[in-house]
Amino acid sequence: MVFLTEKEMIDRINILKKEKNAVILTHNYQLGEVQDIADFVGDSLELSIKAADTDAEVIVFCGVTFMAETAYILSPDKTVLLPRLESGCPMADMADVTEVRALKAKHPDAITICYVNSTADVKTECDLCVTSANAVQIVNTIPKDREIIFVPDKNLGAFVEQQTGRKMILWPGFCPTHMRITPKDLKKRKMENPNAAVIVHPEARLDVLALADEALSTGGMCRFAKETDKKTIIVATEMGMIYRLQKENPDKHFIPVSEQAICPNMKMTRIDDVLNSLENMQNKITVPDAVRIKAKSAITKMIDLSKKLMK
Ligand code: 13P
Ligand code: SF4
Repeated sequence: MVFLTEKEMIDRINILKKEKNAVILTHNYQLGEVQDIADFVGDSLELSIKAADTDAEVIVFCGVTFMAETAYILSPDKTVLLPRLESGCPMADMADVTEVRALKAKHPDAITICYVNSTADVKTECDLCVTSANAVQIVNTIPKDREIIFVPDKNLGAFVEQQTGRKMILWPGFCPTHMRITPKDLKKRKMENPNAAVIVHPEARLDVLALADEALSTGGMCRFAKETDKKTIIVATEMGMIYRLQKENPDKHFIPVSEQAICPNMKMTRIDDVLNSLENMQNKITVPDAVRIKAKSAITKMIDLSKKLMK
């Protein structure tokens, strides 16, 4: 067995990337070492758009299963690799397609919207997909008289209800990592840093969001951090976020609300997994065509709507 130093691993990854025409897409919650070797680091929406638009033949997705599935659904002619096969999203797994069908049967006229953090199977049952970056704007485009089923995040759903004034049928799923962030923790951080800005991810509970200056996707947090005049920013989301914020804004100070907010799935991937994945072309993520084609419609509608709404 040959042991490589970190520098040797990075050099080898760069050689393999050229040889195989590969791109590394990495989510904002990944370990710093994995963010540093990425071609692009972003939130779920930004990563989906990159996966759809890239000319590379191979996408190494450093994130969780639903993200790699989304990349494959959008670009089935590419090879999509997930360096750690076990890195799932517990929230996505809280909605099962059979149960979603049963709920839809009770509300036959409803529009079904899924958070991108859902399985490909669940997406086949949905009219539209959203991410935390566009959920409010997309729900605002739905005619007022249409009932809406929102799957699977009850916290993001409650936030969207509050922002749009729409009542939706909410699936009872949640992100276990964001659930660990409590109002008590955030109040304590605010007391300690009275002049700080407070940014919260909408996967957090409404009583945490109530204490925020801004509710933002992880990509929105990056933009906010660059633009704000505040020098201290309290960040209520998964801990990995602090790495990128601090790296891009060395003159500012970022304070996590809770050091318990670590997503174990987002932390599985290391540089050696990325190297192994590229070297051996594993683990290939695919979705059967029957599922892929149905699921794709909800995702492409979201991307098209987002591009229009962002203009
Ligand atoms: P965004 O990066 O899209 O804000 O999503 C956060 C998340 O929990 C991804 O699993
Ligand atoms: Fe899923 Fe939450 Fe982890 Fe994101 S942070 S992958 S929503 S469990």
